This record gives sequence, structure tokens and C-alpha cells, in this order.
Amino acid sequence: MTRNEVRKRSRDARLGQAIRAVLLSTLLMAPAVSAGAEETKPLRFCADPTNLPFSSDDPGKPGLYLEIGQAVAEKLGRAVSYKWYKSYFGKRTVRETLLSKQCDAMVGLPLVDDFMGPAVIFSQPIAHEGYALVGAKDCKLAGIDDLKGLRVAVQYESAPQNLLASRDDIQKVTVLSPDEGMAALAQGKVDVAFIWAPVAGWLNKTTYDDKYQVVSTEGDGLLWKTAIGFAKASGALRDEVDGVLPSLQPEIAALFAKYGVPNGAPVKFGQADRTTSSTGVSEPTTVGQATTTEKPVQTAAATGDIKAGRETFNGTCAHCHGPDAVQSERRIDLRLLKKRYGADMEATFWKTVHEGRPAKGMPSWKDVFSDDELKNVYAYLQTLQTSDSSN
Ligand code: HEC
Repeated sequence: MTRNEVRKRSRDARLGQAIRAVLLSTLLMAPAVSAGAEETKPLRFCADPTNLPFSSDDPGKPGLYLEIGQAVAEKLGRAVSYKWYKSYFGKRTVRETLLSKQCDAMVGLPLVDDFMGPAVIFSQPIAHEGYALVGAKDCKLAGIDDLKGLRVAVQYESAPQNLLASRDDIQKVTVLSPDEGMAALAQGKVDVAFIWAPVAGWLNKTTYDDKYQVVSTEGDGLLWKTAIGFAKASGALRDEVDGVLPSLQPEIAALFAKYGVPNGAPVKFGQADRTTSSTGVSEPTTVGQATTTEKPVQTAAATGDIKAGRETFNGTCAHCHGPDAVQSERRIDLRLLKKRYGADMEATFWKTVHEGRPAKGMPSWKDVFSDDELKNVYAYLQTLQTSDSSN
């Protein structure tokens, strides 16, 4: 077995445990007041004091990753404390903080196989990080070809710079930082900036009055998952954190919006440019803005995008309902919706995903996903309905 498979297996094994932990914590609701002294010790996070939008030592503006850490600690009934370390999350930082037992966890480490090998272990993914296209809101940014003939700011020695290097039909303007890229855009020196997404989104929100669209991109070196990292010996803590993460999804999504950090479906770039969805359209994804408010809900069935629905499902719902909805616990086996509800299947779906069943461990998703995204999930689930799941 490769390390990946091993990791996946142990993750599958943890899934059952995670569900029980979530159910338990929703049943108990209150933080564990009666827990022993060991349990109530503060959870120590290592963080950079000057790295907004991710972290800062300004209590009025703690940053996305610190707030995620706070939410996790609160769910576990523990206080937080910080070990400040002024640096980006390089390997050296991790070695000198997390692996030297200065702290228990670091939020936002890159979830890639070669990141510090077995010395660091990870929670379930919490976010994406990478590069984004930033441009006027009416500008079409659905793929690399939309940049033809435009002046595009790229950061020096970044993945976007490499990606665009061979495109003579796109005029590159090199900048040294995302701040400089945003300034070039605002001054009309470029049409689009292809820069570090979290900072672009944060500046768009705090400095540029939400004037631009910020579109995450996906492709070689453009996007990776991040997670909460722990030292290898902290497996038990990691499992505890994984147990509460699913129920924190709505809160985490709201924190992304608060800091303007893009967290939406990325646009495919590079080799796979112009990948169209199964409906044949590839729409620009506008991120960092609230999704549309209240819409009529009862939408025609089967018009959703099955492929996109499967992605959303496996990214979020699968934590509890199983990858590809394969789930041996019948109560949460979503392949049995049709059998269980018949003609009321769709109505039950919408009511459950909108309102959740908080007392039973099913979160509400209406502030996390738009109805279009949920419609896609429904379309995907429709393809899986069976009268009996033999698994
Ligand atoms: C934190 C775990 C968790 C996550 C994540 C989760 N669910 Fe659930 N879901 C549950 C539980 C537990 C139930 C069963 C509640 C009950 O017993 O009534 C449930 C029930 C449901 C039901 C009703 C099933 C039935 O037969 O009545 C639907 C539909 C559903 N979930 C859809 C989703 C979708 C779509 C997502 C992703 C957007 C999702 N869930 C994410 C835990 C979760």
C-alpha cells in the first residue's frame, strides 16, 4: 500500500468515530465543563502575528486561520493560547514550533504528500489556497483564453508567471507582491491580476470596496488543499479535531466570507483549460461575495450538473455520508432517499439541507452553498438511488 492508501484507510476508519463524536457533541451541546484538567488545558496554536488575512496578534482582527482554530477549540471545550512565530509556514517554522512542542497545532498547513513526510499529520482538509484572477466584475474570467490580448499582472517567480510565460498573446506585467498587483489593477496599468488569492480577496474587501471579482484557479501549482497540522504523536488530538470539523463547516464558510478569502469552485487552468462541465457551459466563478439571497426553492429535478454535484458532495457531505454516498449506516445512507420518501424525496432533500436537523447532527447548509450548488448535489444523488444498498 502506498502512504496515500494507508492514510485513506485510516481516514475511513476514523469516519465512524467522527460521526459518533459529532453526534455526541451536538447531544451534549455545552462544552465539557466536567472534563479533567488535562482536557481543559488551552489548545496551543503556533501562528504568525503579522500575516493577515490568516493570522494576527490584533485581537480585534485575529485572521481566518486563528478564528478557525478558536472555533475548533471552543467545540472541544478548550481555551486557546498562541505561540507567535514571525514567518510564513515554511518547513523551518514548522520544525522550530510544532515539532519542537511549542504548540499543539498549526492551522493552514499545505496538505501535500511531501510536506514534512510522516513527522506532520493532518486533519481533514479545511480550505484551498492558491492563485486567483482578479478583474472587473463584468470581465469574463473562465479560462486562460479569456486573457488573450489583455495586460496581466503576475507575481515574480510564481506559478502564474510560469504558466503564462509561453503565451505571446498575453502581455505580462511582473509585480513583486499581491499588493502591487492590486495597485496596478486599480491604477489601470493592467486589466487583470493573476496573484496570490487570499491576499487579493482580503485587499479587495478591505481596501478596494469589493470592486473586483476574485476567481480561484486550478492547475499545476495553482491550488492546493490546506489542513490543520499536528506533530505525529498527536494522533488522538487530530482525531478529536476531525470529529468536530464537519459540524463547523457552516461557521468556517462564514469566516472565509468575513475575510474575503476565496473558497469557491475554482476555474480550471493550464493543461485542462476550457474544461467544460457536463452541462457544456463553463461559467466564471465569482468568489468572495455573498451568494445570492433567498430564491424560490422547489426547482425542477435532474437539471443540475451531476459532476459538479458530486464534487460538492465528496468535498463536504462525504465526511458524514460517505465518499460517493457509499455508507453502511442505513440511517444516513443517501442512496435510499427515493425508497424512503418516494414522491417526497425532493421536498425532504430541500427541507433537510436548508434547515438541517441540528439535534441529530445534520448541519444546515443554506448559508454555505447556493441553491444552484445544492441542486447539483441533488441531481448527483438522484443518479445513485437504489432500492437496497448491499454494502
Ligand atoms: C456532520 C455530519 C453531516 C454532514 C457534513 C452532512 N450531513 Fe446530512 N445528515 C447527517 C445526519 C446525522 C443525518 C441524519 C439525521 C437524522 O437522523 O434525521 C443527515 C441527514 C441528511 C438527509 C436526510 C436523510 C434522510 O433519509 O432523511 C439529507 C438529504 C442530507 N443529510 C443531505 C446532506 C447533504 C447534501 C450534505 C452536504 C451538503 C450533508 N447532508 C452533510 C449528517 C451530516
